[in-house]
Amino acid sequence: MSRTATTAWEIDALQAALQPLAPGLRVEWVASTGSTNTDLLERMRMGDARPVLRVAEDQRSGRGRLGRNWVSAPGASLTFSLGLPYEPRQWSGLSLAIGAVLADAIEPRPQRLQLKWPNDLWLSDGRKLAGILVETATDTTGQRCLVVGIGLNLRPPPEQGLRTPAACLQDIDPRLDGPAALERIAVPLVRTLLGFAEAGFAPFRARFAQRDYLQGLAVTLGTGGQGTARGVDDDGALRVQTAQGVQRITSSEVSVRPAAHAG
Ligand code: BTN
Repeated sequence: MSRTATTAWEIDALQAALQPLAPGLRVEWVASTGSTNTDLLERMRMGDARPVLRVAEDQRSGRGRLGRNWVSAPGASLTFSLGLPYEPRQWSGLSLAIGAVLADAIEPRPQRLQLKWPNDLWLSDGRKLAGILVETATDTTGQRCLVVGIGLNLRPPPEQGLRTPAACLQDIDPRLDGPAALERIAVPLVRTLLGFAEAGFAPFRARFAQRDYLQGLAVTLGTGGQGTARGVDDDGALRVQTAQGVQRITSSEVSVRPAAHAG
């Protein structure tokens, strides 16, 4: 572990800022790991459900939604996971609420940084800046736990194999690096999880709508259907106007692409 790296990450200050919100929360920095999400899920399944934020300088086997990979060179993306015991009144819309708060923390102008349902941050030109992977586990006592993994490009990733062209943080604010971005994101993220556990997605709906990339666009559904995106409901379901009427897309296991990106 390089001293410069850990100093730049301000681990102790971050931990001190988070602990009043999540008592006992530890912040960990590792030079390299397979996947921060997998690390925390495994730990929880072994019985350790203590709140933790784990950040990796290099993630070799990063995972994305729908079984995809999150590919990054060392230091080229901010990769971290937050894990904690979690039992919200309802789960639907969680990744949307997280996305909305993440975007607000990074770029206040909604027209610049948008949200691509259900869990991506895209610039308005259709390039992907960040992705969110929400997973759950149950510990040995039956306690339900949440792991939120976030990958945010700091430098342009290799274009090979990308489904969506990539953006990086420098496109938004050249002064922001990984540690500075994490410092901006961490406290609002934990606050959001606490708020969401009580009130669900409804209080975040307007913030999502302000940045909704798909709103009004022709979209192609993974199921083969087509329609026009018409915003999201109070539970985070995507409304798609199709020839058969409005379809509510609730499953995060379904891919929805702007028609221009489909293929
Ligand atoms: C997606 O775009 O589908 C979600 C990408 C999530 C990537 C992050 S990086 C930190 C955490 N660990 C992982 O293996 N994945 C998430």
